[in-house]
Amino acid sequence: MPGVSARRLSHEERRQLAVNLTRVVTLYRSILDAYIIEFFTDNLWGTLPCSWQEALDGLNPPQLATLLLGMPREGEVARYRSVWPLTLLALKSTAYALAFTRTPGFQTPSEFLENPSQSSRLTAPFRKHVRPKKQHEIRRLGELVKKLSDLTGCTQVVDVGSGQGHLSRFMSLGLGLMVKSIEGDQRLVERAQRLDQELLQTLEKEEKRNPKVVQTGPRHPPHHVVRLREGACHALEEYAERLQKAGPSLRTHCYRAALETVIRCAQPELRRPGVQGIPRVHELKIEEYVQRGLQRVGLDPHLPLNVAALQAHQAQENRVVAFFSLALLLAPLVETLILLDRLLYLQEQGFHAELLPIFSPELSPRNLVLVATKGPLGEALSLLETEDS
Ligand SMILES: C[S@@+](CC[C@H](N)C(=O)[O-])C[C@H]1O[C@@H](n2cnc3c(N)ncnc32)[C@H](O)[C@@H]1O
Repeated sequence: MPGVSARRLSHEERRQLAVNLTRVVTLYRSILDAYIIEFFTDNLWGTLPCSWQEALDGLNPPQLATLLLGMPREGEVARYRSVWPLTLLALKSTAYALAFTRTPGFQTPSEFLENPSQSSRLTAPFRKHVRPKKQHEIRRLGELVKKLSDLTGCTQVVDVGSGQGHLSRFMSLGLGLMVKSIEGDQRLVERAQRLDQELLQTLEKEEKRNPKVVQTGPRHPPHHVVRLREGACHALEEYAERLQKAGPSLRTHCYRAALETVIRCAQPELRRPGVQGIPRVHELKIEEYVQRGLQRVGLDPHLPLNVAALQAHQAQENRVVAFFSLALLLAPLVETLILLDRLLYLQEQGFHAELLPIFSPELSPRNLVLVATKGPLGEALSLLETEDS
């Protein structure tokens, strides 16, 4: 994916990028601020310029992936069936030109060549209960933190938003760091503590069987604490892949937006209530989905429904997908602006700060890590990105 590399920019250029991003994000704020479940209630399609509506109307999901998100399948050439307005083409180019690149400046050797679900660079106890993407992430991030700790002499690590503690566990029991883990969900903390105990027992057994192979010495499992604040994320590449497959799960946003029209009629003050967890949405007729949704939000599931109106909404499924794709196209700009804001803030506070793409983007597209140190790292910074042999 093209884009800007933060490392090549001077402080002044970073500030200018933040100004440009703010201008673009402000220009398209109505798309970014929209809730896709209000597609019908707030006539979101009608908020787009007429020339955009014309260009996007009737495109199916794979065409949206290729033409709008710029992610053609291998060997596929983008063919436009009409002349797109310059504003839309400009948005597409701008979205890529101003976002930080996620392409790492180093070759990542695949750790999943032999077995797609087991990283060859983690030992079995640290892979247990951990999905491959997460195996890659905890290893890369843990190793980066270890190098930073060695370089700076900093011995205490705090993992904020530690979830089930996979990263904390690898850093403390795998790399020997002292870790404090903070997590907002009490259930995850309890599970993390159980997994800590399980891993400690496994490592002790292995140590008895084969003392030379297992790292010995005092073991400090992570210290877990419950705390909560807010956060959210989305990924463009993942959605583009779903568009290319054109699977029935893409229907969900349209169904949910149609449900919102019924909710709004029945109880106007009830806005965007959560209805997660309706199983097998794509196998339901739209009216069946709406009935289940009404029940979920505490309304009468037997309310008389205007099935023709619901079906008319369903016929606009591709428009809903197109609008959501536009919002996702802009999402990396928002992410870049947030990262840049943090980077500039740290620099202005006297820290040396860099953004490094440290995960393989195929495995983990949101791969930029913000590294800040009190002293300059100089050449050592490049060490943080590289893979150890
Ligand atoms: C992607 S998960 C982290 C996974 C974890 N690092 C691991 O290796 O398993 C993010 C976690 O952050 C927690 N979280 C997000 N924002 C938080 C906050 N501001 N305070 C505390 N926990 C937070 C969520 O509950 C979630 O469990």
